[in-house]
Amino acid sequence: MLPPQAGTVIGGRYRVVKLLGHGGFANTYLADDLRAGRRVALKLPGLSQLGDPAVYERFRREVSIGRLLHHPDLIVAIDFSEENPPYLVFDYVEGENLAALLDGKNLPPVEQSVEMVASLLEALDYCHKKGVYHRDIKPENLMVGSDGRLKVLDFGIAMTSSSPRVTWRGFSGLIGTPEYMSPEQIRGERGDGRSDIYAVGCLLYHMIAGRPPYTGDNPMTVMYQHLTSKPKPLTEIRPGLHPGVWACVCRAMRRRKEERYRTAREMAEDLRNLDRVDLSDADRPDPPMISVTKSRRFNRLVLLVAVLAAAAAALLLVYVFTR
Ligand SMILES: Nc1ncnc2c1ncn2[C@@H]1O[C@H](COP(=O)(O)OP(=O)(O)O)[C@@H](O)[C@H]1O
Ligand SMILES: [Mg+2]
Repeated sequence: MLPPQAGTVIGGRYRVVKLLGHGGFANTYLADDLRAGRRVALKLPGLSQLGDPAVYERFRREVSIGRLLHHPDLIVAIDFSEENPPYLVFDYVEGENLAALLDGKNLPPVEQSVEMVASLLEALDYCHKKGVYHRDIKPENLMVGSDGRLKVLDFGIAMTSSSPRVTWRGFSGLIGTPEYMSPEQIRGERGDGRSDIYAVGCLLYHMIAGRPPYTGDNPMTVMYQHLTSKPKPLTEIRPGLHPGVWACVCRAMRRRKEERYRTAREMAEDLRNLDRVDLSDADRPDPPMISVTKSRRFNRLVLLVAVLAAAAAALLLVYVFTR
């Protein structure tokens, strides 16, 4: 099947208006729901995915995770068709994609960013308490809704604590985006609520600095920095920034997940009470996660091999899904 054109009616009910966006695996369209008389978003498999039975499994999983979540800021599938091709139906979020906003350097004022992120953390706290971990928090998967709040999209690689074996051909730990990937995900672990908190730390940094904490020409250099570097302090990039904001980001982005905020709610509370934040988090050393032996040269070698293996697996993943 060719990508649907404007005007095409899908399932006798949804009339396609236009393409909204595409991620790695799917295309999302704005459509009119002719039966309910309202706008929806339809997610169809990308061309390379058509005919792949795994698509049905992935969509089914996204729906079953969605059924656990009832929150105005979490945009989950409201309907699923198992036709050929299958598709998911979502409430349409009127608003702008956060990635587009940040790419255009339309940074919200700092206070507004802090409040947007605090409110996002509350939605994630709800999610985590239901046992759902998003694992792919990044600007592309967030919309700024007409109420000014961040709406979370794309539970496509989310995981539930009750069914930890929902993996894509065993690659679960490597899915994500290098700029927002937690050290444990880089090291091949599946990731959990604290990986979402790490990503939120990266997100708040990005919203304030105008760029993610670590950038580079290729995924490997970015991944390497997550394991070894410290981002340039936000207080240097934005003189006059409340030091509590930077301390919150540092605590969210601790390399070892046990040292991060334990819950998303705790971080939200800190962001809303900046004067009470423990500023020592900004200065506490966060040792690189590469120590295997006492020999630094050997450690670097081990790290290089690990990062290369991770990158090879990531490339393989891209190949498998975009073929
Ligand atoms: N419910 C929605 N309302 C408005 N725009 C949406 C909606 N869902 C997705 N989009 C747009 O489509 C893009 C891709 O959707 P997403 O759900 O992230 O799919 P993918 O799995 O392909 O990444 C998003 O970045 C967003 O801009
Ligand atoms: Mg996406």
